[in-house]
Amino acid sequence: MPVSLRPAIAALAPYRQGRPAAEDAFKLSSNENPFPTLPSIAAAIANASVNRYPDGTAQALRTRLAARHDVEFDAVHVGAGSVSILSQLILAAAAPGDEVLYAWRSFEAYPGLVTVAGATSVTVPVRADGSHDLEAMAEAVTDRTRVIIVCTPNNPTSAIVTRDEFETFMARVPDDVLVILDEAYVEFVTDPAAVNGLEVRGEHENLVVLRTFSKAYGLAGLRIGYAIGAPYILDAAQSTAIALSVTDAAQRGALAALDAEPELLGQVAALVSVRERIAAALSNQGIAIPEPQGNFVWLATGEHTVAAGEVLSEHGIVARVFPGDGIRVSVGEPESVDKLLDATAELVRTLPQGLPSAGLG
Ligand SMILES: Cc1ncc(COP(=O)(O)O)c(C=O)c1O
Repeated sequence: MPVSLRPAIAALAPYRQGRPAAEDAFKLSSNENPFPTLPSIAAAIANASVNRYPDGTAQALRTRLAARHDVEFDAVHVGAGSVSILSQLILAAAAPGDEVLYAWRSFEAYPGLVTVAGATSVTVPVRADGSHDLEAMAEAVTDRTRVIIVCTPNNPTSAIVTRDEFETFMARVPDDVLVILDEAYVEFVTDPAAVNGLEVRGEHENLVVLRTFSKAYGLAGLRIGYAIGAPYILDAAQSTAIALSVTDAAQRGALAALDAEPELLGQVAALVSVRERIAAALSNQGIAIPEPQGNFVWLATGEHTVAAGEVLSEHGIVARVFPGDGIRVSVGEPESVDKLLDATAELVRTLPQGLPSAGLG
């Protein structure tokens, strides 16, 4: 007789790593930073201790982040990737029968994290331009809602939430509902109207801001992210965490990345200019995309998504394909841009209705 598992967990699709990119292909499927690790960061990681357990309170890094963001030490919580902190916060706030509300399509990890917590996902479709419909989300709040996740820029559509929209939304959300502002890509934002969680946090005790070292800081493989919010909420998150999962290497790597911030933000600026080049070229090809504010662009290929993904792949572009919906392409090496644009030009020529040229933007 098979072992009895929680039916909701057994029904989840098992994790499968994406197909490895061919040697001459560009891996643009995980929104990673394409630049090689800086020597100073590599040296800091090489000095990490592995025979001892790490500092479970991440004292040095939290002190540094608190100073960096001008908040108190206890208002900073560190986790093994910001996705770990998302899981901790959902576990801390939502139990079976409770609802977790978020936009869809958004970060593909959200549904699974909610299911694992035993809570119920409630989703509100993003608007045609890929942005959150915060009005509809406010209307979807019930007395069961315990957590709301707002992702800006939204993965995978790359659209932002504006500060005005966010403030209007927060005014409608009950104070006892935890709002998580997932800002994994905030460093890539150039739109001055965008919300910045750390600028608005002071007004909202129920808001926790999530940031990561995985994207702009190039440490995806080390697994380290952080949250800034009310200490009692972060203490609850810590209580649901697996102890000691943030390694010494990750803590040292993050500190070294903060030391190298000017250089890393220079890389971000370079990626933003590649992003602008891609957006302008797609527009010239007649392809409408949501205005990209993360390190990725969204092609709303709809029912042609699988075929479009194959065309990209034939051109040496490995992107994230969401069948029936669209394709997210990370902004990567400048050399990848021509291949991407050759592929999208072919899509315009060969797809039955071409790529979306209306309804977006
Ligand atoms: C919106 C969003 N949030 C969080 C994460 C998780 O990042 P990490 O766990 O590497 O910090 C990702 C990663 O892709 C993401 O896209």
